[in-house]
Amino acid sequence: MSQFLVFKGGKIVTPQGVRRADVLVDSKSGKVLRISSHILSKGARAINCAGLLLLPGAVDPHVHLRDPEDTSKEDFSTGTASALAGGVTTVIDMPCYRNPATTSLSAYNRKRAIAKKKCRCDYQIRFGASEKNQREAAKCGAHSLKIFLTDTNSELSCSYAAAARHFAAFPKEKPICIHAEDNARIAERKLRYFEHEKVRDKVAAQIACQKALKLAARAGKRRIHMCHLTTGKEVDMCRKHPNATYEINPAHLHLCIDDLVDLGFLGKVNPPLRDRTEMTRLWRKIGDDTMMASDHAPHLPGQKKFGASGLPGVGTLLPLMLQAVHARKITLPRLARICSYNAAQAFSLSSKGEIAEGKDADIVLVDLHKKWRISAKNRLSKCKWTPFEGTEVHGKIEEVYLRGKLAYDGKKVLAKKGAGKEVK
Ligand code: DOR
Ligand code: ZN
Ligand code: ZN
Repeated sequence: MSQFLVFKGGKIVTPQGVRRADVLVDSKSGKVLRISSHILSKGARAINCAGLLLLPGAVDPHVHLRDPEDTSKEDFSTGTASALAGGVTTVIDMPCYRNPATTSLSAYNRKRAIAKKKCRCDYQIRFGASEKNQREAAKCGAHSLKIFLTDTNSELSCSYAAAARHFAAFPKEKPICIHAEDNARIAERKLRYFEHEKVRDKVAAQIACQKALKLAARAGKRRIHMCHLTTGKEVDMCRKHPNATYEINPAHLHLCIDDLVDLGFLGKVNPPLRDRTEMTRLWRKIGDDTMMASDHAPHLPGQKKFGASGLPGVGTLLPLMLQAVHARKITLPRLARICSYNAAQAFSLSSKGEIAEGKDADIVLVDLHKKWRISAKNRLSKCKWTPFEGTEVHGKIEEVYLRGKLAYDGKKVLAKKGAGKEVK
């Protein structure tokens, strides 16, 4: 079988537009060799893409794959299988909270060794900030650092003062990713309210976002990345900051507090779902600078029942945003930008993020007109539930190629454990 593939007759989606073109790929090097209006497939394997879109593999810059922390809910193998079935070809994994916390060089390197054996899609591993590990974090070599400003009941939390020290110590050009919710505000609200979404209200998120951006500005040209923004105000704050990027979780665009009636404890997440008005506001804020991130946070249903916060999402990120294209909420070029290109740019994934000559051939074939229903069964996460169970969406992911190799055929993940590479 030839090592060369030609994707014939499809439409390529890039941040600049949608155009009819053929794509020549070398499955050995994993690269896109040529894009042209007509490429002869003689001696190469032709893939008939008539009627299909060629999307760049999605890059999900925020997933918790729980390995080795708690592999009963997810692990590198199942999490990355779920990613591939959802058209995500690169993930950035968040630090573990414990067993052991990814806050030391030894835990970080151990985690990388496990990932190398088990990941089916490409990945980066993010380092975790603790109150005191500024020196170790600064020299860990990771492309980005995670700071939880909120209490996580683990070592993986920082006071504002500790965060400021990380801002000064971590290489300035590398992003520090922030979970911003203000502890003091939350503690105060707890005395008055019972409901999760009232305790961790939008003001708690806005206070912490503002403070983090201010502290980052004081640290000179510090790159900072604000995770899972839920309000329009936070997006505006980031836009005023010269070195900030930000992400939005599709769950906060597709679910609001009204959905808690059906979801119950399953809908608990930090930051919480907001009201419908805020959800609409967030949709309107989406622009060319937006980055979509799933904050894939799997917990078993039994753990959710006892109060665990977090929603699985790596397998539904692209399907939900394709549905948004179908519903004319975003355009295809914008989808390519906010689901692939921007995260690749922000997190040193220079071979990723777009279908272009010389880049990795991470290609998702999509039939935008086909309808299907989201179900835990076809999303593949080990946690075996999704807040979008039964939701009908347009845009069927027919095939997914990772570096020129078929990784998902529309039904099954073909990429083996260890097929994924760490992107350096
Ligand atoms: O709800 C959440 N769950 N929010 C987070 O920021 C972390 C996550 C988790 O790891 O479960
Ligand atoms: Zn978070
Ligand atoms: Zn998270």
